[in-house]
Amino acid sequence: MSIIERAAGKIVKEDKTSTSVNIIEKAAARIAKEDEASARTSAAKIPADHGHESVGGPDTQKSRGDRAHSADTASSPKQCTINLAKLRQSGIITPDAEKTQIAEEFRLIKRPLIKNAFQQSAGHIQNGNLIMVTSALAGEGKTFCSINLAMSIAMEMDHTVLLIDADVARPSLPNYLGLQAERGLLDVLLDDKLELADVMIKTNVDKLSILTAGKKSKHATELLASQSMSELLKEIAHRYSDRIVIFDSPPLLLTSEARVLASQMGQIVLVVAAEKTPQQTVKEALRQIESCDVVNLIYNKASTFPGGEYYGYYS
Ligand SMILES: Nc1ncnc2c1ncn2[C@@H]1O[C@H](COP(=O)(O)OP(=O)(O)OP(=O)(O)O)[C@@H](O)[C@H]1O
Ligand SMILES: [Mg+2]
Repeated sequence: MSIIERAAGKIVKEDKTSTSVNIIEKAAARIAKEDEASARTSAAKIPADHGHESVGGPDTQKSRGDRAHSADTASSPKQCTINLAKLRQSGIITPDAEKTQIAEEFRLIKRPLIKNAFQQSAGHIQNGNLIMVTSALAGEGKTFCSINLAMSIAMEMDHTVLLIDADVARPSLPNYLGLQAERGLLDVLLDDKLELADVMIKTNVDKLSILTAGKKSKHATELLASQSMSELLKEIAHRYSDRIVIFDSPPLLLTSEARVLASQMGQIVLVVAAEKTPQQTVKEALRQIESCDVVNLIYNKASTFPGGEYYGYYS
């Protein structure tokens, strides 16, 4: 039985005892090595350029080119005030809140992610600071976990965070955070003259900045899977290498752009809705992201979970 099967089986089979969020850490590349035959079969089912099939439209082909202006020289950053009371009501961590179980769980979840992000020398992970939060299906808790993770990391002494709403077809960060929809990711992808720093928003949470999905575009999903986005990701990884960048992303099995995005991330957090997502669905989602070396699973919305809160699966 492969690690994927064991991990996925564990997710589905375990009885539950205590937590609402748990994590199973593992490396997708190592899984692929363990069962190469199986990995090859699944790769054959999903063409390598699957995500690019829908890429098209004149505005999606624009290259970002070699920009004359850097984000560092752009105009002073915009500011916004996150509605922290609203966040607390939704069960999300805020800096001024009491110690909660969710805060404790995300403390455990963020540790390996931060370590991987800044690991030097032998264990260095390329673009390790780019972390995609995704799930197999809709409504499993991607945005909930993205914001909690971003908040938890921003509350660290040494780390700054950029939270990006990459679920461009169905953005939900403005609603969660109590913000107006501002110019954001799609605007940068569509307008060569617009810099990331022009649309990044500083918040009332020290060390947390936001990039919204931006204005609605009928090419939103194609833009997310475009060459322009790839170039932007490289720019982000390079220019903001000292900060953690969290992408609240679309679901893997319902969109093609999520897979393209996943292939460019240093780390992926796969959120699995407890007692809801079938084992086969989790396994299929894991196959979609085999190209990423570091995949972490969050077992979300569990009423209970036996054997401790933290699962350190690592093959
Ligand atoms: N651990 C949790 N505890 C309590 N509520 C949760 C938890 N995780 C998610 N939720 C709630 O479940 C609902 C769906 O969560 P969320 O919006 O994060 O899902 P999503 O995967 O981002 O959905 P979509 O695919 O539509 O973007 C929200 O109302 C959210 O507040
Ligand atoms: Mg969401």
